[in-house]
Amino acid sequence: MSFQFRPPQESDLPALAEIFNNEIETSTCTFRTDHVDLSNRRAWLEDIRRDNYPCLVIVHTIDVDDLSSIVGWCNLSRYRPQEAYSTTTEITLYIHRDFRGLGLGSQVIGCIVTEARERGYQTILAMVATENAPNTKFWVKCGFEQRGILKDVGKKFGRWLDVGVYQLMLSSY
Ligand SMILES: CC(C)(COP(=O)(O)OP(=O)(O)OC[C@H]1O[C@@H](n2cnc3c(N)ncnc32)[C@H](O)[C@@H]1OP(=O)(O)O)[C@@H](O)C(=O)NCCC(=O)NCCS
Repeated sequence: MSFQFRPPQESDLPALAEIFNNEIETSTCTFRTDHVDLSNRRAWLEDIRRDNYPCLVIVHTIDVDDLSSIVGWCNLSRYRPQEAYSTTTEITLYIHRDFRGLGLGSQVIGCIVTEARERGYQTILAMVATENAPNTKFWVKCGFEQRGILKDVGKKFGRWLDVGVYQLMLSSY
């Protein structure tokens, strides 16, 4: 059993949609409430390629049969459209729930941060629902610092949600 990180391909999109839809349905890790379909994921990939944002998928290979599957991804995207924000990016990271706690999230962030620095970004933001306590610890462990908490900015599953703003300064990572 081994894991590799590589840029996404069109053939990865069904697996990426499945991982994302699972979180949309069951968790507040994402504030999205409607499912994504393949055309949505194609548009997502086109945006990433057009804007040259770092993106890596995590491929799990079972050596015996040489079978592989996608178990997560990490990408950066534009934080806000205004030009003055162009050196600030927002990070998205999802690991399939059967593959959490194996160090994959921390490792892929390390690779994405290297790419971000090479492309000249100044800072990376992670916006995290504070009710997901293990996730908030994860970001601190990866070197992000909490800058504040936005109160009641989301509502999902009938409850109000606060969002923690976590920031990594690339010059200090
Ligand atoms: C947050 C997430 C990406 C972490 O990925 P991961 O591969 O499980 O993380 P790692 O194995 O690299 O864990 C690194 C550290 O994070 C913390 N951590 C991660 N998941 C944890 C959990 N479920 N419970 C407790 N601590 C956890 C631990 O401190 C761990 O350090 P340790 O190995 O010393 O115990 C993963 O849980 C996930 O995909 N969550 C759902 C999606 C999400 O919330 N994404 C963020 C918003 S974009």
